[in-house]
Amino acid sequence: MISLRPFTRLDFPRLIGWIASRELMVQWAGPTEFTFPLTETQLEKYLAGGAGERPVRRVYAPITGQGDVCGHIEIGAISYENNSASLCRVFVAPEYRGTGICTPMVRQALAIGFDELGLRRIDLRVYAFNAPGIRCYEKAGFVKEGLLRRSQKVGEQIWDTVVMGILREEWGELNTPQAPAAR
Ligand SMILES: CC(C)(COP(=O)(O)OP(=O)(O)OC[C@H]1O[C@@H](n2cnc3c(N)ncnc32)[C@H](O)[C@@H]1OP(=O)(O)O)[C@@H](O)C(=O)NCCC(=O)NCCS
Repeated sequence: MISLRPFTRLDFPRLIGWIASRELMVQWAGPTEFTFPLTETQLEKYLAGGAGERPVRRVYAPITGQGDVCGHIEIGAISYENNSASLCRVFVAPEYRGTGICTPMVRQALAIGFDELGLRRIDLRVYAFNAPGIRCYEKAGFVKEGLLRRSQKVGEQIWDTVVMGILREEWGELNTPQAPAAR
């Protein structure tokens, strides 16, 4: 059982410890928000985007039933005019990888986006080599919408980016209780 609670300053050291290389930083956060190594100063600025009446992002620490922080997740680029947002900066703690928590984390974030914020669309970008990420997002209900070929240079490598999205009505269908079986 995974739940989301707001990400706070107390979570900074743990997150900084997880982001151990430049490549992982780009894989996790894209090329623009942070520079490696991640610092508390950068995270202060990041967190400030989650403040106020109409924050551009909502940042969460997913927690297990035992109360352990097991990752990181963000609903970012929130547009209150367009009723859209992007799922960003999904991270599963190394010790929780492969335990199946990614999809419930993402579903919790989608529930906030659609049911609480009333969004009509949530999208994301994920690098094409990231098979666990893509599979996790598909299991949560995202569909592939496009491929940005050779879009990100990281060191000597150039990565393709997959664009995925889910619409409000698709989320609704996934969460409609099954009709009772005919007698
Ligand atoms: C991406 C990430 C969040 C996924 O979490 P995870 O715990 O590693 O994912 P899982 O091991 O549960 O795998 C998710 C699914 O992908 C499948 N999978 C794993 N490796 C795979 C591979 N090489 N090919 C195909 N499917 C694969 C798993 O079997 C699982 O599917 P299932 O539930 O049907 O069995 C995690 O690896 C992570 O934090 N990576 C670093 C940061 C990052 O890349 N974030 C994403 C930014 S978009």
